Amino acid sequence: MAVTKILPILAVVLIPATGSAGNQAIAGELMAGKAKAEAACQVCHGLDGRAVVPMAANLSGQQKQYIIAQLEAYRSGQRRHEQMSIIAKMLNDDDIENVAEWYSSIKITIEMPN
Ligand code: HEC
Repeated sequence: MAVTKILPILAVVLIPATGSAGNQAIAGELMAGKAKAEAACQVCHGLDGRAVVPMAANLSGQQKQYIIAQLEAYRSGQRRHEQMSIIAKMLNDDDIENVAEWYSSIKITIEMPN
């Protein structure tokens, strides 16, 4: 078999064995979350989670579980907001997990006022 044919097979076999499957799952969530944030969130929350409209929340560095809980609450109607209620209904469970992974993974630094 030609080397060019063997290499992709080796990659498929070896990558799960060498890399941690957990880390790869997180990396997948992160990239899917970034893509979703670009498509559906950044006009108000920024891709970096710094809100670009005054009434939207900053999401960078927010707790992942908090983001998930709020999106589920908007989706179920438990929490209501004219824009977020509509947006959350367009997200499936994976989307929620992924965008929460994205925004919670952005590192922020805090500076107290003097
Ligand atoms: C059209 C503007 C707009 C878009 C687009 C938008 N949001 Fe929001 N978002 C808001 C506003 C405004 C609020 C504050 C709502 C409120 O007062 O309940 C909010 C609130 C939230 C909150 C609650 C924050 C908190 O501190 O409780 C989360 C989480 C959130 N948005 C996530 C998202 C995600 C994820 C997306 C993309 C899938 C998204 N939003 C898209 C405007 C937007």
